[in-house]
Parts: sequence; structure tokens; C-alpha cells
Amino acid sequence: MKTVIIVFLLGVGCTLLGGFLFLTRGGMPVRTEGGPLPFERLIAHMALHHAIGADGDKPSPIPADATNLVAGAHVYREQCAVCHGELGRPPSATAKGMFPMPPQLLPPKTGVTDDPVGETYWKVRNGIRLTGMPGYAPSLSDTEMWQVSLFLLHANELPAPAQDVLRR
Ligand code: HEC
Repeated sequence: MKTVIIVFLLGVGCTLLGGFLFLTRGGMPVRTEGGPLPFERLIAHMALHHAIGADGDKPSPIPADATNLVAGAHVYREQCAVCHGELGRPPSATAKGMFPMPPQLLPPKTGVTDDPVGETYWKVRNGIRLTGMPGYAPSLSDTEMWQVSLFLLHANELPAPAQDVLRR
């Protein structure tokens, strides 16, 4: 039993020492160029999915009518387009230089049109730590956050006035 405990403690000690040396020798990838660490994406997606939990099922308190979609398009252009893309334009230099690269959310990409609107709202409100995705709770009103979330949900089928905002 004693030997098992010693082997176990040695194992833990070696792992901690390995991690410490990896960090202090500059082994951790901190540049934006390069791929993810093994399991990084899986762990990050699991953490996000469980943090959102049942909040992702929240329905929108406002309708997806033309007024709200036009307002959402304005919020998108002012706050989000630099990272998530402008209609008919290639990804910006800012987007291309980020890790992870922000997903392009306007057509022809499908963006988040198949995600529940409550999940998009959660991400807009809270942000996603250490990815570059800002949380907008301190700067946008609740209505604006729902408007931009509805706008992204309907990005494939926007009424003409909302498309005009994006083309201006
Ligand atoms: C500075 C860059 C930046 C800005 C500005 C930004 N985002 Fe993001 N956003 C990101 C990044 C990076 C991710 C990817 C995060 C990840 O991989 O988990 C992301 C992810 C998202 C996602 C999840 C996409 C998916 O495929 O699940 C949504 C929705 C989103 N952003 C909406 C918005 C909205 C709406 C705005 C404006 C109100 C905005 N973002 C502004 C960088 C940005």
C-alpha cells in the first residue's frame, strides 16, 4: 500500500514539474499563429456548453419583425462586423490575426442561424473568456442584445431594409 502511495505521489509530482517546465521554458503556445493544444477545443466547447446550460433555451422577449432586425443590423455593423465579417467582403485583418479566428456570421456562411437564439444572446451578453469575444452586458441594452441575436438567427432571410443597412 505504502509503495502505491509513493508511486502515486511521484506521478503527480512529475506531472506538476513537467507542466511547470513546459510553461517556464516558453512551451505554451501564446502566439495567435499555430494550432490548438490537444483537446483544447473539446474542453473549451464542453465548458461553454455547460456554462450556458438551460439559459440557452430562453425565448426572445421581442419579435423578429423588420424593426428589430434593422436595429440588430445597426448593432452588428457598429460592434461586430470588424470580427464577424461584412456582407460580401473577405475576413478583416483583425479577424485573420485572431486565435481562435472569429467565425464569419453573414451569408453565404450559415453562421449561427441554426443555434437557439437564447444561446446566441448568452454569448453576446457574457462574451467568451480568452477568445476575444467581448461580453456586451456593460455597453448594450438588453433590447439591443436581443435585436442583434435575432438578426444573426435570421441572417439568411433578412428583410430588404435590414440588408440595406449591411450594404451601406
Ligand atoms: C474582437 C472580436 C470580436 C467582436 C468585436 C465580436 N466577436 Fe463574437 N466572437 C469572437 C470570437 C473570437 C469568437 C469565437 C469564440 C470561440 O471560438 O469560442 C466569437 C464567437 C461569437 C459567437 C458564437 C459563434 C458560434 O459559432 O457559436 C457569436 C454568436 C458571436 N460571437 C456574436 C457576436 C456579436 C453579436 C458581436 C457584436 C455585438 C460580436 N460577436 C463581437 C470575436 C468577436
